Amino acid sequence: MDKLIIEGGKPLQGEVRISGAKNAALPLIAATLLTSGIHTLRNVPDLRDTRTMLRLMENLGVRHSREHDVVTIDTTDLYHAEAAYDLVKTMRASVLVLGPLVARLGKAKVSLPGGCAIGARPINFHITGLERLGVTCKLENGYVDASIEGRMKGDVIYFDIPSVTGTENLLMAAVFAEGKTVIKNAAREPEVGNLVDMLNLMGARIEGKGSDRLTIYGVEHLQPADCAIIPDRIEAGTYLLAIAASGGEGTITHCIPEHLPSLLEKMRATGLQIEEGEDTITVRQPKGGYDRLQSVDITTRPYPGYPTDLQAQFMALMTLCSDVCVIQETIFENRFMHVPELMRLGANIRVDGHSAVINGRSLDGLTGAPVMATDLRASSSLVIAGLAASGRTEISRIYHLERGYEKLVEKLSELGASVWKEKE
Ligand code: EPU
Repeated sequence: MDKLIIEGGKPLQGEVRISGAKNAALPLIAATLLTSGIHTLRNVPDLRDTRTMLRLMENLGVRHSREHDVVTIDTTDLYHAEAAYDLVKTMRASVLVLGPLVARLGKAKVSLPGGCAIGARPINFHITGLERLGVTCKLENGYVDASIEGRMKGDVIYFDIPSVTGTENLLMAAVFAEGKTVIKNAAREPEVGNLVDMLNLMGARIEGKGSDRLTIYGVEHLQPADCAIIPDRIEAGTYLLAIAASGGEGTITHCIPEHLPSLLEKMRATGLQIEEGEDTITVRQPKGGYDRLQSVDITTRPYPGYPTDLQAQFMALMTLCSDVCVIQETIFENRFMHVPELMRLGANIRVDGHSAVINGRSLDGLTGAPVMATDLRASSSLVIAGLAASGRTEISRIYHLERGYEKLVEKLSELGASVWKEKE
């Protein structure tokens, strides 16, 4: 296993290119299952999670090849409809094959993902949504066994809480359903919009992109896709926060600034200067310098609210501000695993239920220490804190980071960070 070593205290400077979004690539790869043929996906990040998804596709009989960021997927020989526990337990998003498999083959057997470091994360919405469309779902031996004779029938599906992969799974399931399906209180995340665009390119009829009400008019056939993955807004936000926390100034390129409305407003509220270009965002230190960073409260919410996937990284920045703020996590029940690790670097944080109080007042700055990565986004907050801390930070279990950040060491090095991997 590798660990990441950071010699902190150097302000990051320069430009960094943002990769394709992990959480868009995963559903778009799954969507190729909907119809037989050769699909082309562009701007696909090369990550542990996208490789896991492609391995799962291979197990289903689907072949693929990659040239740079273009992945070609041939779904002609789809012969298997089962996603086994050994892969699903390593990546929950494997559940995204459930909708397209049952839509194309009339059956699917997918392992229940089980618990997760950040919360229980059930998939009950996916299952009740499928049942609404006429699919029979049996839960047996840790698997969802879904089947239907003939076509699904369109209906109204309502989410209690907007679920990202739930919306994606049901969009894919409903493309062939007879008549009209309406998903109410649908997730509005840009990754869902990317999937809507791909499905419509394939011949689906989906209206309401970007809203909380998606209407799907069932079609009988789809054709293979040629579609690009949108830029990763969470990777983009992570680099912006890393540059800011290190005391540097820099620009992220190949991103969509409109996908980060809440983060950019919160960063501005800290005093940071943010300049949005067409596909770039530049961050500069507050007028009067780094010491003028203000503490700002955040509460995580479904899009366009503040993303839970950038909560830990924002907290790393808040540990450096000279006041007190409160961060509330409302999406997942256990998403403060980074707190004890940030405290090892000297941060002053108190957790009370779903809230964390970050007190930067008593702090002269963070100091490097050995810490442990616990999940993907928690790990990236440790990278940010390590870059801002004086001295050496060693982050173990970095396979978590490799799930979601393409070429992390290379990109940080381009920005001038002193960072490298070592064997544990
Ligand atoms: N929920 C249920 N039942 C369900 C589905 C969801 O109760 O059937 C609850 C969840 O427990 C949670 C809330 O609804 O409290 C929202 O969860 P959601 O279903 O939206 O999460 P997800 O689809 O499993 C995706 C991302 C996560 C991201 C969340 C929230 C992918 C592959 N994953 O997960 O990304 O945190 O949406 O935005 O898109 C990450 O990239 O690090 C990551 C965890």
